Amino acid sequence: MKRYVILISGRGSNMQALIEARLPGVCAGVISNRPDTAGLAWAAARSLPTAVVDHRAFPSRASFDAALADEIERRGGEFVLLAGFMRVLTESFVRRFSGRLVNIHPSLLPAFPGLHTHAAALAAGVRVHGCTVHFVTPALDSGPIIVQAAVPVLPSDTVETLAARVLAQEHIVYPQAACALLEGRCLLAQGRAVWCDEATPATLALRVPAGQAH
Ligand code: GAR
Repeated sequence: MKRYVILISGRGSNMQALIEARLPGVCAGVISNRPDTAGLAWAAARSLPTAVVDHRAFPSRASFDAALADEIERRGGEFVLLAGFMRVLTESFVRRFSGRLVNIHPSLLPAFPGLHTHAAALAAGVRVHGCTVHFVTPALDSGPIIVQAAVPVLPSDTVETLAARVLAQEHIVYPQAACALLEGRCLLAQGRAVWCDEATPATLALRVPAGQAH
């Protein structure tokens, strides 16, 4: 069984969705860059291995990332799932885990990278919004897209209602993408996310089925 690590910074609802999905692998650790996060408490209460690598204890981004990478490898983590992990990772870290490092972002990338995506979507007046699971590359929020899920933007939406609608989709597609990654059914090849089979749930609606990709 592949070993995976989940990195969080706060609430950890995506981490919970990943754990509750019983992924085909071993959770080698839930690691937070902040102590006292709700997500860490949730994981510890379920006897999952947890750790804190507090970014404030390091003088530079590079030294924090090096310690984080060491912690992941000490635990035998082969795959790294970012789940609301709010630190920008250095190129060195990203290259160390290339093809084994994925993130969920609360927008339909490449629209609305960075923070405050739901407010940005409302301000832009888009009619469709959503989330993206992607391989992480050195450029922020721009790695190869594994899967996306879309939701309508309603006239009555606030940041809160839109965020909740997107989050519900995050909790569906992230476990599906992580499962495919761990089983080797989805991989990074020549700068693209490639799905190797057709055994994909209908909820991965916006994935281009094999055979129809150009
Ligand atoms: C999620 O919406 C996730 O997509 C987003 O933070 C939230 C974390 O919630 N991630 C990013 O914005 C990364 N740039 P969670 O802690 O409950 O999973």
